[in-house]
Parts: sequence; structure tokens; C-alpha cells
Amino acid sequence: MGLGADVPSGEREEPDVAGIVLVGGLGTRLRPITYSVPKQLIPVAGQPILYHAMDLLPPRVRRIVLACGYKAEAFRAYLAAHPYRRPVTLVPESTPLGTGGGLKNVAAEASDPFFLLNGDVIAGFDLEELWELLQEEGGLGAMSFLEVEDPSPYGVATFDGQGRVQRFVEKPPRESAPSRWINAGASLWRREVLGEIPGGREVSFEKEVLPGLLPRGILGKCYRAWWEDAGTPERLLHAQRLLFDHPRTDRFTPSARLPGARVVPPVAVGRGCAGEGATVGRYVTLGEGVRLGAGSQVEDSVLLDGVTVGEGARIVRSLVGPGYAVPPGAVVEGACLARVDPPG
Ligand code: GTP
Repeated sequence: MGLGADVPSGEREEPDVAGIVLVGGLGTRLRPITYSVPKQLIPVAGQPILYHAMDLLPPRVRRIVLACGYKAEAFRAYLAAHPYRRPVTLVPESTPLGTGGGLKNVAAEASDPFFLLNGDVIAGFDLEELWELLQEEGGLGAMSFLEVEDPSPYGVATFDGQGRVQRFVEKPPRESAPSRWINAGASLWRREVLGEIPGGREVSFEKEVLPGLLPRGILGKCYRAWWEDAGTPERLLHAQRLLFDHPRTDRFTPSARLPGARVVPPVAVGRGCAGEGATVGRYVTLGEGVRLGAGSQVEDSVLLDGVTVGEGARIVRSLVGPGYAVPPGAVVEGACLARVDPPG
């Protein structure tokens, strides 16, 4: 029997499209929090960065594959307790393989074409436009770009007259960056790209693979929209402000209820929090079971599960890791704090 024999005439089966999300990095720039929680599971605007990132994948993506490395078990446990609205498969790697090696490691799960996403990217753009571009123009893939003031911490591209990527340089010095258009961390690829990645070792997709692929035609989609890569404490808090300021009405809406507290929206309050006499907001996420003492204040911050804040303490522009106890009267500003358990 031929494929699709049961499909009534005039109707077509939707093609299988996978979204591959890279979540295996160490997140060193978010230490010490990432010693206990992987970067993509840090909550912002009420849910992990990863869930906001997965929301970016267009509806045609029916299944998601997480290329895991560091703390793969934490992803497994979180997804089991908080199922995402599309099926998610985890594929762990035993040693860190980098962005290219991590992608190669999940090759068996890829569709043709497949979306590829960094798990710490949040944005206000529609990735369906990459799909349309690749269908119309053809080529090996389509990547998203956006313009920033200082491109030096990112991958930077120039384009030819047909909108194809002409040059790509990873993290160039600011003065020699060839443009201000940076890789936004979301792309669409033909499956054959996987054959271009060396197997069995650590590979940087951006540095080792991408430049060699350019002659085969990679389309650049230049977006003008809000965007952030939540890789540092400052950017993570900026990502939270962006997400609060651009709520998705079709998705998860966090609770803002904290009985007895003064709540200045937008805030997201996890289950089992208490904060009688405290002031919370604007732009705050409280994980589960956070306890705020009377007279304490929290603003523009993320407090992870089980944090306690002593009476009269003030926390501004900060990240506080799970179970951390902020002493009464403390002033915490622009900090990234976590309990670091001694080795052994
Ligand atoms: P830093 O250590 O702070 O640079 O963070 P990071 O390790 O997450 O690196 P970076 O932000 O540059 O990584 C971009 C994306 O690729 C993130 O979503 C990472 O989780 C992911 N990534 C980085 N290295 C690996 C890896 O070795 N394996 C896999 N599977 N993913 C990776």
C-alpha cells in the first residue's frame, strides 16, 4: 500500500517537522546558580527560559528534541513534573560535544527540514517565515538575524544581493565586526547539513561548520523585533522584562497572587509562596515555596525555589539560587547568589 493511501483525496498529511533545541551547555556565565540549576531551567516571567524558547517554534513543529549534556537529569525531572504542550524527547550526550557535536548526536531524531534553536533565546518573531523563505528560495538552510549596537559577543553576518549569508564570523572584535547583524540563535536546516558535521568529538557549529557551508546557499532572514539571549545575569533579567512586557495571551499566564503582600505588576508567583507584609515587583519571578519576611522588598529579580528573605531585606536586579537564605536587613543589588555545597 502506498504512503498516504488512507488520506482522503484533497487532504495531505502534515509533514513531520522536528524542533531541535540545544540545552547542553555549562552556562558558566550564570554561575554559581548553574552549579545547581541548568541555565534553561531558570524561571523568567513564571516559567523556565526553555519553555519560552520552545514557544518560539511554529505550530508546524509537532515534536521537540532536546540535545542535552550538562544536568540532563534535571531536564528529565522537570519535564516529567511539568509536561510541555508538545512531545519532548531528550537525547543526552556523555561528554560535552559543543553546538555542532550536540546537533550531530541527535541526528537520528531530525526531520527534513528541521528547526534548530538555542535553548536560551526568547524573541518576538515568527519562525514560520524561515520555513516560507526556504520553500521559496531553496538552499541548505535559513537563519534568523537581528541588528544590535555591539555585535562582538555574537556571530556576525554579511549578506549578498539575494539575501544569502556571504560571510559569518563568530565573536569578532567590535572594531572589525563586518556588520551589526547577529545570529539570533534560531534556524531551519535541510537534513543533509548533518552530514557536514564531524562525528565523535566536540565541534562548534558556528566556528567550524557554518563558514564552510556558505557557498551552498544559506538564507538570512533579518528580523526587527525584541529578542534576547539569556546567557548572563543582566541579559536574563532583560529577557524577563521583555517577556512580561509582551505576554502571549495564547499561552501560560503566571499567577500574581501573594496574599498580604503589596504586589506591583508584572510579577509571577510560584506555588506555596508566602509574603505577608512584603513588597514584590515590578518584574519579579518567585519560584515555588519562596518565603518573604515582613518589610522585605524584591524588584526586577528572580528568586528560585525555596529562597527565604529575612525581614526588611531588599533585593534588586538580582538572581537568587534555590534554597538561599537572604539575612534580615540585607541589601542585595545586581548580584547572582547561590548556595554552593562543598565538594564531596
Ligand atoms: P556559557 O558557558 O555561559 O558560555 O553558556 P553555554 O554553555 O550555554 O554556551 P552558549 O550560550 O554559547 O551556548 C549556546 C547554546 O548551545 C545554549 O543553548 C547551550 O545550552 C547550547 N550548548 C553549548 N554547548 C553545548 C554542548 O556541548 N552540547 C549541547 N547539547 N548543547 C550545547
